[in-house]
Amino acid sequence: MSKKVIIDTDPGVDDAMAILLALKSPEIELVGLTTIYGNVYTDLATQNALRLVELTGRPDIPVAHGAESPLLAPLGPAADFVHGWDGLGNINLPPPQGRAVDRPAAQFIVETVMAYPGEITLVPIGPLTNLALALALEPRIADHVAEVVVMGGAATVNGNVTPAAEANIINDPHAADMVFTAAWPVTMVGLDVTMQIIMTDDYMLALKTSGSPMAEFIYTISRFYRDFHYDTHGLAGMHTHDPSAIAYVLDPTLFTTVRGPLRVVTEGIAAGQTLLDRRQNWRQPNAWTGQPMVNVCLGADAERLLALYRERITA
Ligand code: BDR
Ligand code: CA
Repeated sequence: MSKKVIIDTDPGVDDAMAILLALKSPEIELVGLTTIYGNVYTDLATQNALRLVELTGRPDIPVAHGAESPLLAPLGPAADFVHGWDGLGNINLPPPQGRAVDRPAAQFIVETVMAYPGEITLVPIGPLTNLALALALEPRIADHVAEVVVMGGAATVNGNVTPAAEANIINDPHAADMVFTAAWPVTMVGLDVTMQIIMTDDYMLALKTSGSPMAEFIYTISRFYRDFHYDTHGLAGMHTHDPSAIAYVLDPTLFTTVRGPLRVVTEGIAAGQTLLDRRQNWRQPNAWTGQPMVNVCLGADAERLLALYRERITA
């Protein structure tokens, strides 16, 4: 049986790559996209989500417009230097035909989870504001989701915005702390693994020449994003962030994980840091004591994951 999935997203080049992987995978029934600021502001995230479902012939998939700013932190600038001014590599797509559904993302998440108790997997691949708002609106969703798979954070490596913080978490650290401390099953697919999985220039060229229009589209939108990686990391390729969260949903055996309580630093120079307590039976009580265990990916079979991505996208 396929898994019902809601992707919460700020598309975003790698968000688009993740959404297309979900759409091409029979194990996943994509029941909605909810949108959030981050790579772009929320209005453009909604437009891009609509563009993606229309371009892939799935305008039936509902898109719900999400929060336009973080819970408490100030709204940061859009990451146009990473994803382009349009969020999709400056390719000038025409406006979408359709519109977002008539209720906000948090309400859409609550209604969908409560309508299918135990069946919905939430996959946030942007800042976590919508999930925190959904929890505040209806705390019982924590008991009724199948699983939450977060792309974000860094447990054992530096961040990609500051030495402490990864982009999705620093954009709304208060929301992220709510999500990681709620009593629902959470897996963190963070920079520990996503920066180990590289889509090299050769890999991308093979996608482009595969004969699949979807693979060629991915090649086209990812040129600007690839150049950002080259300029910033000296990498002739791209890190595989958001598609890795979908890959986890498809096949968790692609990853090795550890479990422990995880808190997010919300203020100061380390704001956005995801701090996992890996100590066993620590005596003195602290802010991690008694918090739910988070499943944190620390290792990945990059070769197998990239083969899976290529197989699905080019099929
Ligand atoms: C995350 O930040 C965004 O730029 C990407 O879409 C991804 O979700 C990686 O840190
Ligand atoms: Ca994203």
